[in-house]
Amino acid sequence: MLLCVNVDHVATVRQARLGSDPDPVMAATLAILGGADGITIHLREDRRHINDRDLDVLRNVVPVELNLEMGATEEMIRIASRSLPDLVTLVPEKRLELTTEGGLNLNSSRNRLQKAIRVLKAKGIKTSLFINPSLDDVDISKEIGADMIEVHTGCYANAKGDMQERELVKVMKTVNRAVALGLGANVGHGLNYHNVSRFAETDSIRGLYIGHSIVSRAVLIGMERAVREMKALVRRS
Ligand code: PXP
Repeated sequence: MLLCVNVDHVATVRQARLGSDPDPVMAATLAILGGADGITIHLREDRRHINDRDLDVLRNVVPVELNLEMGATEEMIRIASRSLPDLVTLVPEKRLELTTEGGLNLNSSRNRLQKAIRVLKAKGIKTSLFINPSLDDVDISKEIGADMIEVHTGCYANAKGDMQERELVKVMKTVNRAVALGLGANVGHGLNYHNVSRFAETDSIRGLYIGHSIVSRAVLIGMERAVREMKALVRRS
């Protein structure tokens, strides 16, 4: 099973000062040294974290799967067609949301998505659709030509106890339907060090797409060393 690491929130910290540190490109390189099978970035319309330069540099330096999350807009399709990521994951995007809040509405955006998939495929880019746990949405994804789906695990991640078990069943039914139709089946959103193991147990999932929990852990486990290094400089002066 692939572990694909989303480095958006390294860029979120950078944008807090509008400078160049911390660089998501360096974070991606370290993630790959740590064993990441893929790197994901979400280039948002408002460029709130990842920007066009990050995509260009990552395209040149990432030797594993580079997954570009984006809305199916003309601007993004143009950018993807130029930068040629290995995979494009089409997601719904709302300007005011803090993070992607759910899967695509495949009924209302079917034609737009189908057109985007056609253009991206012609460029040799694999496509994935970020969908809610729903068998109908898997069927539509197949019909409109996606190579893969990524099932939104946010409800699973937020639920507890029996509710979480029910959400897990919904996600796994969706994954199994995708596999039966010959689609790659990925999962992501809200997965962390406490809730990921249920997915790690299964063979049918192609990849786990995880960002926030890994970046959060990196900040905490790096804190002690970062302070020690500053302390050493302060002591010397
Ligand atoms: N998959 C998709 C499609 C997403 O939009 C996100 C969030 O950017 C993730 C996975 C990763 O979610 P998280 O940051 O909660 O791990």
